[in-house]
Amino acid sequence: MTSFLMPQTTNSSLSTKRHSLQEKTMNIVAQRPPEIALSNRNSFVKDIAFITPILTKHEAAELMAACGELGPDPSSTYFTKRAKNIAYVICLEGQWFQIRADYFIQPQEYNDFSGGYKRSYREMPKEFIDCSATQKVLFAFKSAYQIPDKEPVLVQVQTSHINANNAGQCLTGQGIHSDGADRAILVCLDRNNITGANNAVYGDLAGHQVILPAFQLEEGHAMLWHDDKVFHHVGPAQVADPKAVGTRTVLIAHYPATHYLSGRVNPNNRLGTNPVATTQQLRWQVKGKASQEKVLVGVD
Ligand SMILES: [Fe+2]
Repeated sequence: MTSFLMPQTTNSSLSTKRHSLQEKTMNIVAQRPPEIALSNRNSFVKDIAFITPILTKHEAAELMAACGELGPDPSSTYFTKRAKNIAYVICLEGQWFQIRADYFIQPQEYNDFSGGYKRSYREMPKEFIDCSATQKVLFAFKSAYQIPDKEPVLVQVQTSHINANNAGQCLTGQGIHSDGADRAILVCLDRNNITGANNAVYGDLAGHQVILPAFQLEEGHAMLWHDDKVFHHVGPAQVADPKAVGTRTVLIAHYPATHYLSGRVNPNNRLGTNPVATTQQLRWQVKGKASQEKVLVGVD
């Protein structure tokens, strides 16, 4: 077992720094860094990918409530319906702050399906970064991978909606892929009336080299992995009771994150992507609306 102790700070310094920064450009939150421990399940994969419990059911519910209502994810028109909120967050002097930005651009080099164009989302409300469960996840991610202070992290919380008609569809539209980051964490916050949606980690895009065989990430559990070294996948979900809708809600965070603001390729991640047919590449459909959007990266 490996322990990751969180940095400590004082309430007085928090208050002073919070007020000074509040006058600037960021959304501010006071917080007291928690202490948690992460356990590596398997020594073989511990440096590449591992799974750990991270939130209680109550904490996961608190985190979801702190997100408010999730906004639309237009790209999911082409796969399983999904709602999503995002936040760019940064740790300064032991405190987490949210940076105002409501989009990301995933380079098409990592996502031939829905990469290569600007995707705008609802930003997290202030309650999100104020939430102790959010901070617990962020400090765990930062500690596990020694993410430096002053380095933005992109956080997404999303709910996939599964019903009898779309059961068996791909939840991401991407198959086996890398997200284009160096490090990533995926936390399952809720599974309601679904089966499947199993995660897996592979050493290659074809899925021949199995790092973590397909498994069900339980509520409150996290998978952490080196996104610049291995690929991941989530399998299709089915509704347990076909007469009702099923949902799966997850938090995903990535470091580094600044390249998602610019759309540039992360020089540390050269994993690439499985190609999709040109007719399936969403960036070309967005290009047809370029007069409205005006931000297209890596398309032309
Ligand atoms: Fe992914």
